Amino acid sequence: MPGESFYLTTPIFYVNDVPHIGHAYTEVAADILTRWHRQSGDDTWLLTGTDEHGQKILRTAVANDTTPKEWADKLVNEAWQPLLETLNIANDDFIRTTDERHEKAVLIFLQKLYDDGFIYSGDYEGYYCVGCEEYKQLDDLMETPDGDYAGQLVCKIHGRPVEVLKETNYFFRMSDFTQPLLDLYESQPDFVQPASVRNEIISFVKQGLNDLSISRSSFDWGIKIPWDHSHVLYVWFDALLNYITAIGYGTDDVEFNRRWPGTQLVGKDIARFHAVIWPAMLMAAGLEVPKQVFGHGWLLVGGEKMSKSKLTGIAPNEITDAFGADAFRYYFMRAISFGQDGSFSWEDLSARYQSELANGFGNLASRVVAMITRYYDGLVPAPGKAAPAAYMEADLGIQKTVADAAAAADAAIQRLAIHDALAAIWTIVEELNGYITIQEPWVLAKSDETRARLDTVLYTAAEGLRALAVLLSPVIPDATEKLWDALGADSLGPVWEQPLTDAGRWGQLPAGSRVTPIEALFPRIEAEAPSVA
Ligand code: MSP
Repeated sequence: MPGESFYLTTPIFYVNDVPHIGHAYTEVAADILTRWHRQSGDDTWLLTGTDEHGQKILRTAVANDTTPKEWADKLVNEAWQPLLETLNIANDDFIRTTDERHEKAVLIFLQKLYDDGFIYSGDYEGYYCVGCEEYKQLDDLMETPDGDYAGQLVCKIHGRPVEVLKETNYFFRMSDFTQPLLDLYESQPDFVQPASVRNEIISFVKQGLNDLSISRSSFDWGIKIPWDHSHVLYVWFDALLNYITAIGYGTDDVEFNRRWPGTQLVGKDIARFHAVIWPAMLMAAGLEVPKQVFGHGWLLVGGEKMSKSKLTGIAPNEITDAFGADAFRYYFMRAISFGQDGSFSWEDLSARYQSELANGFGNLASRVVAMITRYYDGLVPAPGKAAPAAYMEADLGIQKTVADAAAAADAAIQRLAIHDALAAIWTIVEELNGYITIQEPWVLAKSDETRARLDTVLYTAAEGLRALAVLLSPVIPDATEKLWDALGADSLGPVWEQPLTDAGRWGQLPAGSRVTPIEALFPRIEAEAPSVA
């Protein structure tokens, strides 16, 4: 229902990673979902940011001869903020775990859990992977028979040796929440999605949860435990709290109640932190759990999870420099079912760019505008003067396609099925192209007798483009803004303010709107795509 609160979060990125298309994928999905809700009139908020504490960052900063805070400042300015610009992300806030607002609210949260008896001091002995910033069980490790680490226990994800930790730490009583979490998954089947991730989480929790070590005393780059300054808070405990510290937890109840609970988009690799540890933390603090945790799939390159450490990382601007931000946004959301893994290839990207964006959509727009310019001196004709019926079957068919597509796209977005929303919207592109081929407006233009029919055909085409611009605005904001200008639709207000819930209603583009010739929305790409190792 319009006007409802829609608060969406992305994971906060490890500040010293180099941004790659896997990070960009989460951002783009989140941006499309929030643009859609904003344009539907919902009280929308998109939060993203950076995860800046922990051993990994401390070590890289030291290796780069600087302090961790200076190192993080530099990376936020030079890598992460520019990534959001490159992808045209309209986030409402950007939180850093070194922000004072975050640190203050984390202390409030911790103190509450401590006062309420959910935190105790105990001994920890076990393995820790700095790459994952995670304590490991033996199952998560393997022995390597050869190579640099022969005979050592290495993390299965990073392939590097784990560290043996023996410390007195503070522990969170996570084991208390095994049953409450199982009850949550049962009573709110949508809490963790998609089903594959939900099943994995449930079987993990069914084994029973251990208490979680939440502090470290062997280094000091982190938030100090308020009652014991010789310890800093475990980086995941600190990072997860960003979702509530950014919206006023502990400091601004009005804002907090307005936004929380939110929907949380994460990669499936970090779903456990979000669907197990995080709701347990919230339950302990007496707060509501998220509306939903959605674990999207991985981008694969050569069949493996794309990652910088395996040298399969692709920088987002390698793609946007050649194809543009709109094409990036469209491609990843169209080609991969959201929630499943998907392979990236330059060939597939180029092929879809050419056939769907340039030939399918871009050409449709330029042809319609060119015909209105040529046959009507640039003024959109009024439909419906032809006898015997104002609109004929073919025209009504387009109207139905538009109405159905708008409804189906909205329903798909509500279940986070961005690929289905795009497929629904694309039926309009396909139907309109077919309609123009069959109606042959260039033939209708040859005789005065068919002039009234031409009015209807070109109005239908222009109004179909109006609906397309509105529906695609959250996905390809640059191209749809150009199309909106070209259609002379500004009398309706900016395209991104057109209510999406009303996008399928026929007849909104006023007759008499002045079209202007359009540059190619998706120009031909001359450059060769870079080759991928
Ligand atoms: N800092 C933690 C998150 C803390 S949230 C409280 C973290 N950061 S990350 O930078 O490593 O990952 C951020 C997001 O990028 C995750 O959702 C992760 O799944 C996503 N991706 C990283 N590589 C990816 C692919 N190859 N494919 C799709 N997304 C992947 O984890």
